[in-house]
Amino acid sequence: MDFKLIATTTFGLEAVTAKELKKLGYEDLELENGKVTFDGDEMDIAICNIWLRTADRVLIQMAQFEARSFEELFQGTLAVNWGEYIPEDGVMHITGKSIKSQLHSVPDCQGIVKKAVVEGMKNTYKKDWFEEDGPVYKIEVGILKDLVTLTMDTTGPGLHKRGYRNLAGEAPMKETLAAALVLLSDWNTSKELVDPMCGSGTIPIEAALIGKNIAPGLNRTFVCEQWPIMPKDVWEQVREGAEKSINKEEFRILASDIDGSVLRTARDNAVKAGVDKYIAFQTLPMEEFSAKKKKGCIICNPPYGERIGEKEQIEKLYISLGKMYRNLDNWSCFAITSFEDFQKFFGAKADKNRKLYNGRLLCYYYQYLSK
Ligand SMILES: C[S@@+](CC[C@H](N)C(=O)[O-])C[C@H]1O[C@@H](n2cnc3c(N)ncnc32)[C@H](O)[C@@H]1O
Repeated sequence: MDFKLIATTTFGLEAVTAKELKKLGYEDLELENGKVTFDGDEMDIAICNIWLRTADRVLIQMAQFEARSFEELFQGTLAVNWGEYIPEDGVMHITGKSIKSQLHSVPDCQGIVKKAVVEGMKNTYKKDWFEEDGPVYKIEVGILKDLVTLTMDTTGPGLHKRGYRNLAGEAPMKETLAAALVLLSDWNTSKELVDPMCGSGTIPIEAALIGKNIAPGLNRTFVCEQWPIMPKDVWEQVREGAEKSINKEEFRILASDIDGSVLRTARDNAVKAGVDKYIAFQTLPMEEFSAKKKKGCIICNPPYGERIGEKEQIEKLYISLGKMYRNLDNWSCFAITSFEDFQKFFGAKADKNRKLYNGRLLCYYYQYLSK
């Protein structure tokens, strides 16, 4: 089947996900806030779920129409041939959101959409009652300025759930964001990579997956694998291709943290991700780091000083990070933080910076290129 697919992203990462999609061979991408839209079929659903590192999920756009009344919403939803996608026993979860629209009661909109989907199923299957004990279909009704978009989620648990992180440190970063930080940096496997405040190791692990060209979704399943419309051999083919794509690169990433206990978690996560061989973990205060390699790249997610009383300590930490970078010729430094005066304490204006969200927190990704 031909679908309109949507890769959803965190605000600020749309262009990074679009770049990934281009690399996978997709063209005619449309970028909007928090999403990239493109055309694809069943194989593309499998490829994007298994390969996208920075997207949150892959959705099928089922319909888009204007609606200012419940009747318009009902008819627009009914116009989709739901029975073509959802089997008789399909479990339907309807979620919703509405922004700046006349239809603002989300629970009512969800109810109308469910009614219209079931009505469509009744027409297809010629029956009035559905057990709903089969595969799961999460349908979202999103309304923005009276424009309704109906989507169906193919992913299930978000794409950040790679399957390697059962354990996390105190302020773990989402795997999708960590991958984006690496892709936005100038790191490649010919250079040393250092995360001197690695916590549960998300940045080093995502970097190692990128370095080895290991598909991030290789060790997990996706909700649409249970759908009758998704051929099983498509998944086998994409997984087999992904196994073969793992390269023979050898490289070493240094991951350190002042907190030894969090490093045990980081190491366990790296083992689960199958990349522990490429990461050297060390308990070390960042202030004591000294590089042995000529060329390298620092990527870090330092503490942001969100808690009361931490400000002074954080300022000192950022001063040390700036000093560390200036002592290293031919090294670049990338740091994400919500701390407004980061550049002042780091001691230099970044060559580039980018607005990103870490969870709900507005942050900047400060980028100091190699001198
Ligand atoms: C925001 S957390 C990093 C989270 C990490 N990116 C993850 O995904 O788990 C910041 C880390 O910096 C570490 N840290 C704080 N001060 C440090 C210092 N002076 N030297 C090294 N690590 C430090 C903390 O122990 C904490 O693990």
